[in-house]
Amino acid sequence: TIVLSRRCVGEPNTLDHVPANCEELVLSQAKSDAFVFFGATGDLAFKKIFPALLAMVECGELDIPVIGVARAGWDIEQFRERASESVAAHGKVNKQAFAKLSKLLRYVDGDYKEVDTFTRLRQSLGDAKHPLHYLAIPPSLFGTVVKDLDKADCATGARVILEKPFGRDLASARALNREVLKVFDETSIFRIDHYLGKEGVQNLLYFRFANAFLEPIWNRNFIDNVQITMAEKFGVQGRGAFYEGVGAIRDVVQNHLLQVIALLSMEAPDGGDPEALRTEKLRLFRSIRPVDPEHVVRGQVRGYRDEVGVAKRSQVETFAALRLHIDNWRWQGVPFYIRAGKSLAATTTEVLVTLKPPPVSVFDRIGVKQANYFRFRLSPDVVISTGARVKKAGEEMEGEAVELMARHCPIAEMLPYQRLLGDAMHGDKSLFTSGDSIEAAWRVVDPALKDVGKVHLYSAASWGPKEAHDVVEHGDGWHNPQQQESQPC
Ligand code: BG6
Repeated sequence: TIVLSRRCVGEPNTLDHVPANCEELVLSQAKSDAFVFFGATGDLAFKKIFPALLAMVECGELDIPVIGVARAGWDIEQFRERASESVAAHGKVNKQAFAKLSKLLRYVDGDYKEVDTFTRLRQSLGDAKHPLHYLAIPPSLFGTVVKDLDKADCATGARVILEKPFGRDLASARALNREVLKVFDETSIFRIDHYLGKEGVQNLLYFRFANAFLEPIWNRNFIDNVQITMAEKFGVQGRGAFYEGVGAIRDVVQNHLLQVIALLSMEAPDGGDPEALRTEKLRLFRSIRPVDPEHVVRGQVRGYRDEVGVAKRSQVETFAALRLHIDNWRWQGVPFYIRAGKSLAATTTEVLVTLKPPPVSVFDRIGVKQANYFRFRLSPDVVISTGARVKKAGEEMEGEAVELMARHCPIAEMLPYQRLLGDAMHGDKSLFTSGDSIEAAWRVVDPALKDVGKVHLYSAASWGPKEAHDVVEHGDGWHNPQQQESQPC
């Protein structure tokens, strides 16, 4: 069994069992004794990191100093205030837990390009020997920060988490890997993708390999096509300046959606080694054919150019639709369609795996649209369902579509960053991406980043530009997920 983070439910993490005579592994399993996060006054920290840290305190998982680093001209009180606003914006606050978190907080104000910032960080770390540094900053700063961590003696015995996107394309990701590897070895590098910490994404992996009935049909002989839609009703939400340098393909396709494809289509990992999962994912990424630019449609929502930080003639995509192919024995000929966009008609991420129709229509005619399917709703709620056909009551042998649904009602669900930051503190790399996999994923989308035509405009609250229809080669087009599940939890 591969154990994907079981802390917080009182079970031991398998990685606590460290084989003898393996010094490198012993070092990589040492629990982190300080958590440092760069970009501490930023958007990501506000929306996701403080709530995750609070949840960790609530679970009794976090009792080490938490040092925020940023260049905001703040002091510790302002930093605490920011933490308090962040958790309040996220929901009801456990005051006792927040008081504990507040006591753990420290703050270092300074420029990431000045050595003095890192000297002060070293002082703030006190006698911590295994700090975990989390770089929630643009990838263009990773190299400098990592180098200065080393110079200020903050890197020895430490781990580093690098936020996505890891680079801008294949070439920059390779360069970045080389730079980071000069200071940290691969066992200490945690390339994060919070999608891998989501309950629905974990369930996808579990469902695939915990059920024997899937394996015989999970291949080109039975599956017609796979669609993944990541739709967001909201726009760039004041992150125009960040988004302008990124766009939908770099923001969510190269990472979140390719990870979902990997979990859907990789081979079963061998044995109980958490590294086996990463190995299978790497094999899968390497077998995805680099996308044909002809099979890419980029869109931009009307009004995006009025956002602060966005160029008046911006050609950055807020929507992308791609057709991908996996060149291996299992998936030959099965198209994987992926689509992601801002300001669309719903906020949800859904996977639809459509099976081939029966070879002969004995009763009513069954086309691909009426065929069996598996639907995985990954967000905001977790649903796994199967589409089947049953006979309608009456004289005729006529059928109708029904769905058999398993619904997971979110009770005390772990936040993705809670799971992942906790894993990194324990040195558990199962849910983090290796340097090779990151490069293999960039290789897939690289052609969509170069020599691509202009963006197609679309209206807010739609399903993107009409040109995206052509990405799906079947007559049936895209499956548009519902905003809400038909059955309440
Ligand atoms: C982030 C992207 O990685 O994922 C955002 O930068 C996107 O643009 C977000 O909105 C979606 O993740 P979640 O977990 O909030 O649905």
